[in-house]
Amino acid sequence: MQKHDKNMGHTSPVAQRVDRMDKEIEARRRVMLMRNENPLGDSNRFPTLLDGSRMLDIGRYPDMGYSELIRALSRHLEVDSECIAVGAGSSDILWSIGRAFLVAGRCAIVSTITFELYEQIAESMGVPLHKVDSILYSHDILGLAAAAERKGPGVVFIDNPCNPAGSYLRGRQVIDLIELISAKSLIVIDEAYFEYVDVEGYSTSIGLVKKYPNVIVTRTFSKAFGLAGLRLGYCVAEPAIIEMINEVRPPFLISSIASELGVAALHDHAFVKQSRQLASEERKRFLNALRPTNLIAVDPVANFIFLRVGCDKTRFVDVLRSQNISIREFGNDPEHIRITIGLPEENMFVINILMSCKQHDFSI
Ligand SMILES: Cc1ncc(COP(=O)(O)O)c(C=O)c1O
Repeated sequence: MQKHDKNMGHTSPVAQRVDRMDKEIEARRRVMLMRNENPLGDSNRFPTLLDGSRMLDIGRYPDMGYSELIRALSRHLEVDSECIAVGAGSSDILWSIGRAFLVAGRCAIVSTITFELYEQIAESMGVPLHKVDSILYSHDILGLAAAAERKGPGVVFIDNPCNPAGSYLRGRQVIDLIELISAKSLIVIDEAYFEYVDVEGYSTSIGLVKKYPNVIVTRTFSKAFGLAGLRLGYCVAEPAIIEMINEVRPPFLISSIASELGVAALHDHAFVKQSRQLASEERKRFLNALRPTNLIAVDPVANFIFLRVGCDKTRFVDVLRSQNISIREFGNDPEHIRITIGLPEENMFVINILMSCKQHDFSI
């Protein structure tokens, strides 16, 4: 298809539209189960949510302190505004933590199975990185504490729940970890998937920040809130830490639109509930179908499933790919794949493929 207007020498609006439609059709054909996004998307609710709200003056720079969003988060989390920093996704907050605290003489400590961004941050800051073997797909509290003792002071990163494994630490275990680590080290607790978890014993660590001033808790709007494309995240910590984080970042990082939609999303309890319910029901579907196959590595608690596919990984991945299903592979891990929980029909499709792979020795 001709997409460029020859006379104009640049892409015409019509060609752009065709291009967009092509991409949409392509995306609809491909089932994207690789980034732990919310399959409900933003469900077209934002035009309605924004309806009646004040006009956004996007001709002006946003409010430098993002005060409305921070006030809304403060009410939502029941913590003081000075204890909150917002960022362009929680990745941005994590990078800022790296820039502020991973300075000369400090190191980063992470589990072997964890969100890979922590490692990238440590590498880019040029500080030593110490990896502690995960135990049964979960963070090894004693191992992390021992490493912090031996190698510290540093920044210990843990995700709770853990991505990609899907394991979680109980509230009591998190407290044990914090108490075992010297106050000279920082402990970053990444709760990107907090809203999905409904298992007993799991709790947020936000309430611990007051008692333990070396703790930072990060969260995101990208998952249960369904706003991955908006790029909005936040963290909670003591005001002195928040100040240090804010010092290493450029102004006007978050657009007025993102701030406004973030506030609206915080009021949209029904959507988060719907997202949590969908993930919970679909987790059960995966568990019921796949548990007998031994493919499931850990009982999932968030919106993704970690599968132990062993030496047949390439074949599993090839079959899924041939069906236009994108899932997450890990270059350094030859045995596992991660599948984001999608819509019911997508999940059924994936389960059927996985079952066929298992039962028919990959002959589908
Ligand atoms: C554990 C964890 N933390 C943080 C993030 C970053 O999310 P975002 O930058 O979209 O807020 C992700 C994204 O997948 C994640 O899995």
